[in-house]
Amino acid sequence: MKNKFIYAANWKAYLSFNQAQEFIMQNKDALKTLGRNYSLVICPSFDALATVGQNLQDTQIALGAQDCSAHQAGAYTGQVLAESLKQIGCAYSIIGHSEVKAEHHETIATIAQKAIELLNHGITPIICTGETTKDYETDRGTQALEEQLTPIFNAISKKERNGYQFSIAYEPLWAIGSGNIPAPAYLKQQIMVIRQLAAQIAPQYNCMVLYGGGVDEVTIGTFNKFPDLDGVLIGKASTDFQTLQKIVLS
Ligand code: PGA
Repeated sequence: MKNKFIYAANWKAYLSFNQAQEFIMQNKDALKTLGRNYSLVICPSFDALATVGQNLQDTQIALGAQDCSAHQAGAYTGQVLAESLKQIGCAYSIIGHSEVKAEHHETIATIAQKAIELLNHGITPIICTGETTKDYETDRGTQALEEQLTPIFNAISKKERNGYQFSIAYEPLWAIGSGNIPAPAYLKQQIMVIRQLAAQIAPQYNCMVLYGGGVDEVTIGTFNKFPDLDGVLIGKASTDFQTLQKIVLS
């Protein structure tokens, strides 16, 4: 029976096109077995999406993108449409990741628009949220989540979409790539805030909550049985197959 807990691999730009292909080809049988028993999502960079997607077709592993355009077809150099992601076979797309926000000076309104584009194409957005180190140190962690998520939830709630789902990836910025992870009581509080906001503002959706930031084969023990958590978003540790397998099998 399939374990519902979601393991989403955010490969970022760690793997080149060739390396992404090799990852799938060299571990095809093991990936098939993992996919039969666990809910896995692999999110390669845009260049490798189509080929990884094709090679995952005979597995039960879902394909995810790492971003998408906030727009419909038009003069938007360098952007990738949600419509194209759907055609390639993406079931998920990460949006609002702090690394994208910082590089592209992305606003919350843009992230909300991306979420709407994805939902319009039947793709589950994995909307990243999380407080900065400064917010964390000044006890503004909860407020930061409210400020980031309220406008996004308000925007998507304007559309009636019973039965649709989105995921929130709670990724404290001070945890990403650092090896530091939140204390259980703090994590519990942040998950509760996300769930309460989603239930208040966008109750027509099924909201899944993932945790991301420093998940590896050691720290997974804190998350894989954590009450009220639907899964994890794994960055660097997901780019090595043996490590990913250990995380999933933990
Ligand atoms: P990390 O990244 O697992 O390398 O900390 C997680 C993420 O940014 O999604």
